[in-house]
Amino acid sequence: MTDTSVENEPAKGKRRRVSRRAFLGYSAAGVGLAVVGGGVAFAVNQPELSPRQQGLPSLPEWTAADIPSLQGLTAIVTGGNGYPEEDRSGLGFHDALELARAGAEVTIASSDRERGEEAVRRIRSEVPGASIRFDTLDLADLASVAGFAERMRASHTRLDLLINNAGDMGRLNREVSADGYERVFATNALGHFALTAQLLPLLREADAPRVVWLSSLRAATGAIDFDDLQQGRGDYDYGLAYSNSKLAVLLVAFEMQRRSAAESWGISSIAAHPGVARTNLVPDGPGPDSMEGRNHRFMPFLYQPASQGALPTLYAATSPQAEAGAYYGPSGFQGLSGGPARAGIPVQAEDQDVAARLWTTLERLGGVTFGEAL
Ligand SMILES: NC(=O)c1ccc[n+]([C@@H]2O[C@H](COP(=O)([O-])OP(=O)(O)OC[C@H]3O[C@@H](n4cnc5c(N)ncnc54)[C@H](OP(=O)(O)O)[C@@H]3O)[C@@H](O)[C@H]2O)c1
Repeated sequence: MTDTSVENEPAKGKRRRVSRRAFLGYSAAGVGLAVVGGGVAFAVNQPELSPRQQGLPSLPEWTAADIPSLQGLTAIVTGGNGYPEEDRSGLGFHDALELARAGAEVTIASSDRERGEEAVRRIRSEVPGASIRFDTLDLADLASVAGFAERMRASHTRLDLLINNAGDMGRLNREVSADGYERVFATNALGHFALTAQLLPLLREADAPRVVWLSSLRAATGAIDFDDLQQGRGDYDYGLAYSNSKLAVLLVAFEMQRRSAAESWGISSIAAHPGVARTNLVPDGPGPDSMEGRNHRFMPFLYQPASQGALPTLYAATSPQAEAGAYYGPSGFQGLSGGPARAGIPVQAEDQDVAARLWTTLERLGGVTFGEAL
């Protein structure tokens, strides 16, 4: 199958046991668990890293209290669910909460209206007077992406901050988007790419606009195979699909920064990852019987709270010290938890030829171009 192929497989499937490939993919992504002498040891395989950010001084301890005033700024956060259960509201909820607390006008954009409106309700109760709203966006449906971007362009004159946070870890069986693309690729990579392209005119009207892209430690085990971009060949492996999509996001984030600089868009494109955080990603994705699901259920101590996992993103989005084209993640052991710091960049995310080819491929698949200012 080529990268343009569209396969109409059943959208929902019966759950099955995690394949050996999925298990190996996850292990290689950097998180391995071993029971040693009755205790639990947490070991992470070291990916090959680019030297670009190595040797940089670590950042001072940074918390959400360090976010500067964002009064007068407009922000979009994709994926911002609210749940009555504290530990299920994801990173986007905490991004939106802190941006609203700092005075930004925030739009949460995700596909489940009920969960999105619950996020808005919770943020309003925590931040009286918050400027926060919800709008529907299904990243796995290019018509929905276009509709959302059009509504934003009709109602706003500029956009200061776009956080491409929403994510789908995939389910045990291969699913496809409304447009027939493999669902994880469609949501995480293609949908955000198409959204950013269609919001570019609004971003270019802002004084110092930023786009923050959520990647993952799992990008280190990703690969971009232009002959099978959507995992149409062989057994489907959701773990690999997720890793590949997160590598694609990282490649796009860096490529966008290069293009912004070369074409004077004035936009800072920055990448971030949360380490490992307790959210709805696994319950909503591969589920409780997957390897990730078992870790989630039986070893909750491995996951930091979502409020902590959101900090690298919030740093990238708001700190005056955050640098365009950089990648931020947690400062702690192997980048799994802790406050924001420079993250290790997987070498394959630095391949500029692959990035340029991926960019034009996504433009074609998404039917978008990164065009002119308003
Ligand atoms: N948690 C971690 O340990 C971890 C680690 C590495 C990277 N990440 C990344 O962090 C980001 C946030 O994830 P999370 O951990 O906070 O998970 P989460 O709680 O499941 O949040 C994911 C969000 O994405 C939204 N979403 C999913 N599919 C969508 C679609 N088709 N269109 C629009 N929105 C969609 C969901 O909202 P709806 O269901 O309402 O659409 C939800 O708000 C993701 O990009 C994830 O890959 C997380």
